[in-house]
Amino acid sequence: MTAAERIVAWLGAADGPLSGEELARRLGCSRAAVWKHVAALRRQGYRIDARPAVGYVLARVPDRLGPAELAPHLRGSWRDVRWFASVDSTQRVARELARGGAAEGTIVVAERQTAGRGRLGRQWHSPEGMNLYCSIVLRPRLPPAAVPQIALVAGVAVAAAVAEETGRPPGIKWPNDVLLDGRKVAGVLTEMESEIERVHHVIAGIGVNLNARESAFPRELRGKASSLFARTGVRVDRAAFTGRLLAATESRYGRFLTEGPSSVVAEWESYSCLTGKHVRVASADGELAGRVLGLDTDGALRLAGPRGDVIRVVAGEVTVRDGYEGSSRCCSRST
Ligand code: BTN
Repeated sequence: MTAAERIVAWLGAADGPLSGEELARRLGCSRAAVWKHVAALRRQGYRIDARPAVGYVLARVPDRLGPAELAPHLRGSWRDVRWFASVDSTQRVARELARGGAAEGTIVVAERQTAGRGRLGRQWHSPEGMNLYCSIVLRPRLPPAAVPQIALVAGVAVAAAVAEETGRPPGIKWPNDVLLDGRKVAGVLTEMESEIERVHHVIAGIGVNLNARESAFPRELRGKASSLFARTGVRVDRAAFTGRLLAATESRYGRFLTEGPSSVVAEWESYSCLTGKHVRVASADGELAGRVLGLDTDGALRLAGPRGDVIRVVAGEVTVRDGYEGSSRCCSRST
């Protein structure tokens, strides 16, 4: 972090004012240098009140997800935040950092993506300054076949963070679309580089629609996608939400590594809005149909087939055939 970012982090974490002398001591610089950093921060949109003979107080932080804004909200050990005003995709940046040796828990955040990517080759609508777009570098010591479970871990963490933030029950549509009132508010894209037996790294990409208005979504997403603000009428503090989400992800990922997939399957099923529904799945093997039984420990969706057989689906797009009436958690259209 730069000296200015450290000042913001210290002021944000302090219970009361911090004197110029104390900040100068922590930074190992003069009080005049501290004053210059404070002046520069004010020009960037921070409101820092100076109370004579007492010290500086952070009165307002700009709505940005940089390291300084996130620092007061980070609770776990993942603290290396790489912030960008604009990138093509945080997935691409995180992949390059991972190839260059970035440690587990390195987080790439952008205010806007010009080529945000979704699952199955789709685009991810990524307007500036209102949502969360982040990619996390992970280095699990697992075989590649276990990686789809990490996508479930991330999906459950997003659902938990959305539930905490809104006080509403989100649904998860397999594998990890997170829905509120049946509309998609978040998605997870997990990508990896590996050898046959060993994962080099996984990039867990998470997009959460926080403060976007429904009218601002592209026409093809209207009625299908939404945001936390649009669903609740309450603006989300993006930095606080990001802290919540990262803590939820790190704790569940840690539990998954030590205890295995069963640690996440029960929580995933508690959010599942597909269990018991009759669905169609467009998969590489063609179209499948059946009633959803639940999740296998490897992350596959289990369906009861038409002949009483059990079908396992490892990848594909699910559409619900019937029975959504009365369920506020899920939706029947694919997004
Ligand atoms: C989905 O299709 O549901 C997955 C969407 C994942 C979007 C996120 S936003 C941050 C990261 N960067 C990307 O380009 N995609 C993921």
